[in-house]
Amino acid sequence: MQRIIVTGGCGFIGSNFVRHLLATDPGLAIVNIDKLTYAGNPENLADIESDSRYTFRQGDICDAAFIDGVLGEGPIDAVVNFAAESHVDRSILDSGPFIQTNIVGTQVLLDAARKREVPRYVQVSTDEVYGSLGDEGFFTEETPLAPNSPYSASKTSADLLVRSYCHTFDFPGIITRCSNNYGPYQFPEKLLPLFISKLMADESVPVYGDGKNVRDWIHVLDHCRGIEAAMRKGQIGEVYNFGGKCEMQNIALTKLLLKLLDKPESLITYVKDRPGHDLRYAIDCSKAERELGWAPQVTFEEGLNDTILWYQDHTAWVDRIKSGEYMKYYEQQYGERMSET
Ligand code: NAD
Ligand code: TYD
Repeated sequence: MQRIIVTGGCGFIGSNFVRHLLATDPGLAIVNIDKLTYAGNPENLADIESDSRYTFRQGDICDAAFIDGVLGEGPIDAVVNFAAESHVDRSILDSGPFIQTNIVGTQVLLDAARKREVPRYVQVSTDEVYGSLGDEGFFTEETPLAPNSPYSASKTSADLLVRSYCHTFDFPGIITRCSNNYGPYQFPEKLLPLFISKLMADESVPVYGDGKNVRDWIHVLDHCRGIEAAMRKGQIGEVYNFGGKCEMQNIALTKLLLKLLDKPESLITYVKDRPGHDLRYAIDCSKAERELGWAPQVTFEEGLNDTILWYQDHTAWVDRIKSGEYMKYYEQQYGERMSET
């Protein structure tokens, strides 16, 4: 049986990845290492907790002794690192945890994986390392790195560490960079789950600036399939971009949500823009298509409808999240902004 270490498996993409692998490959065992920060929710994997192929180890990827211990427990076929502080707005409020987890945590994992001679290490990264596009063009794997937020700077630093380990130590690292994910189990601080959950409660939604910033949307399962393909078939030392081929201005997406949820446009509130807000992300994923045989499969229409249905069916999940630390963050991030308009 193949044994894979996943970090950050209680978060949005990690939990979808763990569920996807266990459902599609009976020959796999997964150890999930997660610190359970505000974004980590064991409930996201409640349905597979009793699967004998799944083990959960609570802990911090910055804790070298802990990580070395877990990696030393048995043979490992791959490490896939999802664990991160992942929200741009939080990195603007306080970049400290981003530097720790995203950079120091990656270094700890790289050293432990090197020591244990893990044959494959996948770093789950983001298209935000490339910075921002104007109206034209796409990010390729050759686009110079030019991160603009503390979040993307920390993810870029981690990518450069992986690159340096590949170069210096012949380390078997692979980097994946993906655009904006959506789907079930996404923490309601990111645009789509935040807006869906607020509109379901007839609350107004805060659109930053003029709403003309563009993001490329990919269903989380398509991203998971891409990471799996990189893990199984990717060339060591290479970078693979994944995208959904679905660019949209935030305001167009907001109006589409209003339509699908049958809510009035009066629920849109334009608020003060995010400082340093990247204008546009768009991905050229032809390398992954060519070399990994991967392509996005979920259409945005189908994926968005399913995602809305999922949030409608999981109001208790959202309510539990919103009752905790979340309210403090929401007030800090949006309190002044909402009252300015
Ligand atoms: P998330 O915030 O939903 O989950 C992050 C998980 O990591 C949580 O379970 C959290 O508890 C865990 N974690 C945080 N710090 C940790 C630490 N020090 N030790 C162990 N575990 C820790 O994030 P996500 O949206 O699922 O993103 C997963 C990865 O994918 C991140 O690396 C992110 O940069 C990358 N990514 C995300 C997107 C997106 O659209 N969400 C797009 C491209 C890349
Ligand atoms: P987000 O989901 O935070 O992802 P990212 O910043 O990593 O792309 O934001 C997606 C887009 O939506 C981004 O352009 C910022 C914008 N946005 C809003 O307009 N209002 C909001 O409340 C949030 C969270 C995001």
